[in-house]
Amino acid sequence: MNSGEDKTGKTLAELGVSRPEEVSSLFAEIRQRFDEESSAPRDESTWKEFRDAWLGRKSGVLTRITDNWLKPATAELKRAVGAALNELRAHVETKIEERRAAIEAGTESAAMARERVDLSLPGVIRPIGSHHLIRQVFQEIEDIFFSIGFSVVEGPEIETPYYNFEALNIPEFHPVRDDMDTFYLELPKGAPEPLLLRTHTSPMQIRTMEKRQPPVRVIVPGKVYRRDNPDATHSFIFHQVEGLAVDTDITFCDFTGTIEYFVKQFFGPGVKTRFRPSYFPFTEPSVEFDASCPFCGGTGVSNGGTCSKCKGAAWIELFGAGMVDPAVYGFVNYDAKKVSGFAFGIGIDRLAMLKYGIDDIQVFFQNDARFLRQFP
Ligand code: FA5
Repeated sequence: MNSGEDKTGKTLAELGVSRPEEVSSLFAEIRQRFDEESSAPRDESTWKEFRDAWLGRKSGVLTRITDNWLKPATAELKRAVGAALNELRAHVETKIEERRAAIEAGTESAAMARERVDLSLPGVIRPIGSHHLIRQVFQEIEDIFFSIGFSVVEGPEIETPYYNFEALNIPEFHPVRDDMDTFYLELPKGAPEPLLLRTHTSPMQIRTMEKRQPPVRVIVPGKVYRRDNPDATHSFIFHQVEGLAVDTDITFCDFTGTIEYFVKQFFGPGVKTRFRPSYFPFTEPSVEFDASCPFCGGTGVSNGGTCSKCKGAAWIELFGAGMVDPAVYGFVNYDAKKVSGFAFGIGIDRLAMLKYGIDDIQVFFQNDARFLRQFP
């Protein structure tokens, strides 16, 4: 509004208004002008201009009316101008606030329309990677043993010599400890007992039997550590799955049948198994299980030459196992006369290498995405 054309820039005397009745028609004119301006469409910034034009403290219409009409008014007119001005102010303030609320609601709903999630659109596909091959093989093995009634237990990677050796019938100075030389933790002076990184998952045989009474049927997947120099088939950190079944009537036939079932499920129904005598202090008798080479069909010959996987032997060494040595039951308060069972310890890394044709164990630990991507 241009104050130059506007009567609010003059005093009532200059406008020739001297009677109260004339005051009300003057205000009616102003109010009509306000109503016209107020109905024009506005956004947030033009609403601010509109508000300041009418309510601005310095030169808004209402300030000018106060300064030019009310303050210099004669005593006779002052009351009428004051009342009319109050009424006009209430009207102007209400309308301006209404317009502000309407603009805000409109802006908000426009913003909401912009930001609304369209649930019918396809989602964002994020590449989340895949399980490491070792984890996948753990899963395969767990599924096979779940299907015949085994459950999974896990145990500590830091062990005491008691669980890692003694309770498994491996006393101090037993020569088998040489094969399992490992990493001992540096402990503060006065620590109650030495601690070491477990060399196999077998300590969980003891921990499980301490906690549970037969029947026991568990497998134990996990990491193990040995001070072995790295080469194509050795790593100082690798993975095993321990198995343990103990009950009142478990025989050697149950043992070999279970292993055969596992091997056929894992490598395929055409693969045969055999066992050879072996030695572990915690199993008696102990065996080493072999599978007929899945790559040459157990012939030792592939593509007209010697099979590169079994080196012509037709058999591949798989893992150690045996019937639980009765001496072990003595450590867990099982009655060796009443219970019997079997145990096995599968080296997962070498099993995965065999199944997936990998010729260097080190690739499992290098995290080279080109290798990992081959096993989605
Ligand atoms: C044991 O560890 C026994 N605890 C297995 C066992 C359990 C026997 C229950 C009887 C009853 P061994 O030392 O042979 O056994 O190791 C088992 C498997 O671990 C081996 O067959 C091999 O596959 C794997 N393994 C051993 N050392 C390494 C290594 N440095 N790197 C990768 N794999 C290894």
